[in-house]
Amino acid sequence: MATVERDTRTEPLPFEPYRELAVGTLVDRIRAAKETLAEDLVILGHHYQQDEVIQFADLTGDSYKLSRLAAQRENCRYIVFCGVHFMAETADILANAPQRRSRRRETYGKDREWVTVVLPDMAAGCSMADMADIDQVEDCWDQLSEVYEPDKEVLPVTYINSAASLKAFCAEHGGLVCTSSNARAALQWAFARRPRVLFFPDQHLGRNTARAMGIPLEEMALWQPGLPLGGNTPQQLQRARILLWKGHCSVHQMFRPEHVELFRRRFPGIKILVHPECRMEVVDAADYVGSTEYIIRTIKDAPPGSCWAIGTELHLVNRLKKEHPDKEIHFLSPMVCMCATMYRIDLPHLCWALENLLRGTPVNVIRVPEPIAHWARVALERMLTVR
Ligand code: 13P
Ligand code: SF4
Repeated sequence: MATVERDTRTEPLPFEPYRELAVGTLVDRIRAAKETLAEDLVILGHHYQQDEVIQFADLTGDSYKLSRLAAQRENCRYIVFCGVHFMAETADILANAPQRRSRRRETYGKDREWVTVVLPDMAAGCSMADMADIDQVEDCWDQLSEVYEPDKEVLPVTYINSAASLKAFCAEHGGLVCTSSNARAALQWAFARRPRVLFFPDQHLGRNTARAMGIPLEEMALWQPGLPLGGNTPQQLQRARILLWKGHCSVHQMFRPEHVELFRRRFPGIKILVHPECRMEVVDAADYVGSTEYIIRTIKDAPPGSCWAIGTELHLVNRLKKEHPDKEIHFLSPMVCMCATMYRIDLPHLCWALENLLRGTPVNVIRVPEPIAHWARVALERMLTVR
């Protein structure tokens, strides 16, 4: 009779039992896993993460800062990214650049060449990033050739909130990546090279940044994927200096100019501070605009007793309220604007991801395949040089 040999390789721990664990147990087990993994592990956390998760981050930041931090990782074996998918992809691409891999191989040996990047829940995506895919962008580029010579006249710029394939597309066509903290410098870089920019996927960041640079609305065109010429006439495209992809952040889209008016009426002297993913009318009505890191810095530097309404993700605003009881901080919307995908990273997923690292059975590993990783890295390294 034939016998079936049991596979004795270690299997990853299943996730399901982790849902049942009490918060205190999860906290203790996460602490213990971190202690054991010690220097081998770095947990990166985006500012929108919930408090119970961000407390375990070794380093926190906005997308720009987290990309820089990932690029600087020399001696760790694992990056656990408490953020969303495009952030973990970026960390993998930058931490595993060929020159870094060979340095690690020489210094620590072959088995330490790669940094393993883990996203605790693979469903933590970004709905804005999903609003542009590579087929749509390639189709757009083909259509643009009916009106101009795109590779001479248009430079593609993608917001970091995008798939690695779009970043690679930008590099292959001479372009780069930007974040909310260097979008202006990235557009200046782009306009120094070509007369027009195709900006995706966030129309609002593109429009707000271009306007701040003095480009009038008449010289902007909205590109609606799926429509012939993106819904424009050839004349409109000829006139445009920047083509804005019709994408948006569903969280920041909820802030409205009437919310700004309401706060100004109720709290004379209040300062309005918003993220540049908010629509133009909100940004125009605000006093200060910037990335999450900028928002944190602005509140930290504000005088005691000052009064603020902030237009960005709820978890960050609530944390700022707690950390600055000497300042009056309001959330700039009567609605709950939270990033549901960031919120997917919770204690059970973090504990599960760390304990699988301990067992040598990593789960949810993000590894961007070549040649996409190579080209995306070119676009990201350009991003890191402009500020
Ligand atoms: P920051 O780079 O400003 O942190 O923004 C990232 C993001 O996704 C905001 O919605
Ligand atoms: Fe994406 Fe908006 Fe969430 Fe940022 S807040 S990760 S842009 S869905």
